[in-house]
Amino acid sequence: MADPVSDLSGRTIFITGSGGVLGSTYVRRMLAAGAHVIASDLPGARADALKALHGDDPRFRFYDLDVSDEDQVTGIFQRILADGWQPNVVLNNAAITGELLMGAGKPFPDFADISVSDWERTMRTNLTAPFMVARQMDRDIVGKWPCTLINVASMYALNGAHHKIYDGMPFKNFSAYGVSKAGVHGLTVWLAGYWAARGATVNTIAPGAVFNNHSEEFQRRVGELIMAGRMAKPDEIADAMLFLSSPAAGYMTGQMINVDGGFSAW
Ligand SMILES: NC(=O)c1ccc[n+]([C@@H]2O[C@H](COP(=O)([O-])OP(=O)(O)OC[C@H]3O[C@@H](n4cnc5c(N)ncnc54)[C@H](O)[C@@H]3O)[C@@H](O)[C@H]2O)c1
Repeated sequence: MADPVSDLSGRTIFITGSGGVLGSTYVRRMLAAGAHVIASDLPGARADALKALHGDDPRFRFYDLDVSDEDQVTGIFQRILADGWQPNVVLNNAAITGELLMGAGKPFPDFADISVSDWERTMRTNLTAPFMVARQMDRDIVGKWPCTLINVASMYALNGAHHKIYDGMPFKNFSAYGVSKAGVHGLTVWLAGYWAARGATVNTIAPGAVFNNHSEEFQRRVGELIMAGRMAKPDEIADAMLFLSSPAAGYMTGQMINVDGGFSAW
């Protein structure tokens, strides 16, 4: 009999923001575990790299999708279903992250100088978009076959940021990020009870600090706050994500899994 933890052959997994450091790791690991993977992201270099890596795999599909665009989100599952794929795992992974802003050369203003439009842009992508994806899942999938939603929070969802470790760093932890990630878990616990009778589960994963070419100094500072003493490798977050995507997580709903090397447990 197939092992429910490591065999994802019965899973068709839809992922937003699939081209990032974690998303691309999930895609690679889920394909290796036998899943069908429906990846999506904004058009651009990250999407192109993902398609170049997996485009020949018949268990991989890619859709351009801006999760902040209501019309695009409203149509996404109908497009996928029309193409003959039936997602039973949905992963709300796309987000505006500090590393993404740094890569785009965006400044990190002091809290007093944050504009409402910048705040709302982060909220739109990190919190309203997961709501829109979940709402569309409710309309198009929930109740038709068993399914699960995984929302992605952060170690900075339910814990405050340690502001001092960002002194002099090219990127900062910004307020709207942590607030949006706390909200994502609110969506999880609200939906868990709402969907239970229709055979759908929903959980949150809260990754810790994942190494993505951070400086030695940043690794040292953040490492001192983590019981494990170091940043995570993307594959260590993927291990938990694969479990949540698998039939082995079938009795879990409304929960948050912290994969943070003990950061949140001090
Ligand atoms: N890397 C970490 O240390 C860490 C820690 C905690 C939580 N997380 C969370 O994990 C998830 C993945 O993070 P990552 O490190 O891979 O980030 P990343 O910055 O490498 O990737 C984010 C991805 O989201 C996509 N994206 C941004 N806006 C979008 C939009 N409007 N529509 C569609 N896609 C959009 C980007 O194109 C990118 O591919 C995020 O939700 C992030 O908040 C990451």
